[in-house]
Amino acid sequence: MLAEDFIRQEAFINGCWVYSHDKKTFPVTNPATGVLLSEVACCDVKELAFAIKSAQAAQHLWSQKTAYERADTLLEIYYKLIERQDPLAKLLTQEQGKPLAEAKGEILFAASFFRWFAEEARRSYGEVIPTTKTDCRYITVKKPIGVCAAITPWNFPIGMLARKIAPALAAGCSIIVKPAEQTPLTALAFAQIIDDLKIMPGLVNIVTTDAETAPIIGEKLCVSPEIRLISFTGSTNVGKGLYRHSAENVKKLALELGGNAPFLVFEDADIPIAVQGLINSRFRNAGQTCVSANRIFVHQTIHDAFVETLVTAIKQQLKLGNGLEAGITMGPLIDQQAVEKVKSLVEDALQKGATLASDKKVFNSATGLFYPPIVLTGITPAMKIHDEEIFGPVISIIEFSNEEAVIAQANDTQSGLAAYAYTKDIKRISRLSDQLEYGMVGINYSALSTAEIPFGGVKESGLGREGGRQGLEEYQEIQYLCLGV
Ligand code: SIN
Repeated sequence: MLAEDFIRQEAFINGCWVYSHDKKTFPVTNPATGVLLSEVACCDVKELAFAIKSAQAAQHLWSQKTAYERADTLLEIYYKLIERQDPLAKLLTQEQGKPLAEAKGEILFAASFFRWFAEEARRSYGEVIPTTKTDCRYITVKKPIGVCAAITPWNFPIGMLARKIAPALAAGCSIIVKPAEQTPLTALAFAQIIDDLKIMPGLVNIVTTDAETAPIIGEKLCVSPEIRLISFTGSTNVGKGLYRHSAENVKKLALELGGNAPFLVFEDADIPIAVQGLINSRFRNAGQTCVSANRIFVHQTIHDAFVETLVTAIKQQLKLGNGLEAGITMGPLIDQQAVEKVKSLVEDALQKGATLASDKKVFNSATGLFYPPIVLTGITPAMKIHDEEIFGPVISIIEFSNEEAVIAQANDTQSGLAAYAYTKDIKRISRLSDQLEYGMVGINYSALSTAEIPFGGVKESGLGREGGRQGLEEYQEIQYLCLGV
């Protein structure tokens, strides 16, 4: 099958392909070319009400399935994703912009959640707790939390969708997904898999909507008592809004919000390994990643050697362009707003004295939604880029000389998603683990994300964990059963 075969216009609710009641649509375009890919149904609260009703009915039936049956369904989805990886990757590149190899990696990443949670579904044990009385037994059982909703981002349109749908189904929940308006097509291609496998109607619903209607749908999800959990990946501001709206009916929220990852390179670091770790982290998805290395602290004694190695490696490894073309390793940013944000951070830094250490020709040559990979040195606290999440292909380097002070600087943010450090000193590694206030820490390694680990942050970076054993627990309630004997 071809990528084009998976392009849909309708939303997917109760196992049916549906337009919105007023036939309203919104355009989805390729960020690399500006070409229109499809007009997609702009659902509103009417379609959402239908999705909630369908998900409730499905949840009732699905929760009665055995763990074996649920695991089998997850494995069927896993194998279908593997079978369709090529056309899905092409579609993902077309609507999101990332290079084909990265898109393929994301499809496999998405598939891995179904495999992992198929296995976890069968190992979701309760407990028998030693009693203090002779006439009863204390038992805990894990139960599905109920109908869930997921609001997924444009940067990993299918990776994040899978990270939420797979544990929901494994736990015995149904789910309604509102994909980002920039990238609904991959989500609908996923729905095609659900349809082709004839999975229970209403179990997975994809409600597409435009940017204007998205907040209305988000608020409705929060205030609907039938929805017991909302899992959201996106900006901290939107996450806070969902949190506030959900207070009314004490809904559980799983939030994966913004990051501002420090990347510490100590004087004893292996420079080529640290440079490669930084390139992989910063330029994946053109820097549009929450766990991307954002504030790069380099020890003053190795600063110049590090920058030189980095600039050379960028020249050798990164080629900007349309992700469908051979040899391209970095695609465009998602939209004009994203480009403007990165531009303004870089202009502010340059005006305040930062130095452009990377190729000036490359810096001046990019057009459209393409922003070139660049390195800025001499970053100071007066510059906005010193503290803000960049979400673009810009490396901004801050020199340091003292471990204690740099750890304090690394922690000096309300974000707490991921941090990275490069050093060979085992005692320092232990101090870093103790002192870094982050949900995830990479030591001499920057590719953190897999299905098996608990992904998530502390402070304003979010609530809960996705993936791992813990990722299933988000979708479960514990019931304590006191059994008289
Ligand atoms: C994200 O940017 O939201 C997460 C990407 C990842 O799983 O690494």
